[in-house]
Amino acid sequence: MVTFFIFYFSSKIMAERLLIKALYGGKNTKIITLNGKKMKKMPSALGRLPGLRILLLQNNLISKVCPEISILTQLTALNLGNNLLEEVPEEMKYLTTLKKLHLFGNRIGRFAPGACDGLQNLILLNLNKNQLTWLPQEVSRLKRLKYLSINHNRLACLPRELCFLRNLSELQLNHNKLICIPGEIGSLKKLQKLCLACNDIETLPEEICELKKLRILDIAGNLIQIFPLGFQNLKLREFYCEGNPLFLKQPIFAALKEDDVWSLQEITLRFIMNELAEQNPLLMHALEWYPEVKNKIAQEKSCAVCGKPFITPWLECVRFVRPPKNWKISKNLHLVPLQTFTCCHKCFIHRGRNLFAIGQA
Ligand SMILES: *[C@@H]1O[C@H](CO)[C@@H](O)[C@H](O)[C@H]1NC(C)=O
Ligand SMILES: [Zn+2]
Repeated sequence: MVTFFIFYFSSKIMAERLLIKALYGGKNTKIITLNGKKMKKMPSALGRLPGLRILLLQNNLISKVCPEISILTQLTALNLGNNLLEEVPEEMKYLTTLKKLHLFGNRIGRFAPGACDGLQNLILLNLNKNQLTWLPQEVSRLKRLKYLSINHNRLACLPRELCFLRNLSELQLNHNKLICIPGEIGSLKKLQKLCLACNDIETLPEEICELKKLRILDIAGNLIQIFPLGFQNLKLREFYCEGNPLFLKQPIFAALKEDDVWSLQEITLRFIMNELAEQNPLLMHALEWYPEVKNKIAQEKSCAVCGKPFITPWLECVRFVRPPKNWKISKNLHLVPLQTFTCCHKCFIHRGRNLFAIGQA
């Protein structure tokens, strides 16, 4: 029979004494709860409970993880929230069966080297309210991670390796200092909830439109004026966008140049792209020898009016569309501003009534 021992102790000494008593309960002890006991150290007696599954130590004064934790090879949940840790401890790498790890409310400013090495079964990682300014590339080792929460930290950027976590379903990064989001985010095909509120983001990458499973998007409190084209096709259920300087529908004037003067490079690229669109076999073959041209062409955009490809737009424009009916929107947003481009003066002149130029009047 599996025995569950749950301990609620009133004092630290009691806690440790009773923990030792639990040892007589023996190898079957599955859960230990030592919340809010003013403990400065993890009890080393834990090393004698190899069958432990759940260890709850939140609201203490722990600044280091004891080495005996490496014995706990059946642990599935560890809560060290609201303690005094300064890093994601290296010892985490021994916890190869761990599924949930709570480290919120510490003073964590870094991941110890190797900390992620053994956490291949981790599903949930909560690092809210810490002092992280960056994430190591090694986070990509957390292959099974579904829920990652790093709200209230100081992250200024995200490593592209974060986007290798293809199992992520929920990513929370509210209240950081993020300026941009890597385009690789488009590869998080299972992402359902993305929270980026209260950062310094100016633009969302086009690839965000590839997140077919995304249902909840929170970008409130950023510096976003316009959304990438295709944004309106997201199947959102909830969309929070208050506190952004979004373009409103009104003529937005630009200093219009009338001449189409292009660099030779742009003229050549447009020519090549048009030929490729016609499947010119000679060019398609030749291109294999010019990777730098291929890379350029990968940045191809198309004209909102004529649909033809180009690299350097003639003019950036905004088009306003009604938000899809099933989006529940946090603010009274009648029209969603989408970023579009026109390829030349002629196209701009023939634009529809809903297209406005962006720029200085
Ligand atoms: C996603 O998780 C499964 C197990 O649930 C794992 O086998 C797979 O490798 C993970 N995918 C990636 C891309 O890491
Ligand atoms: Zn055009």
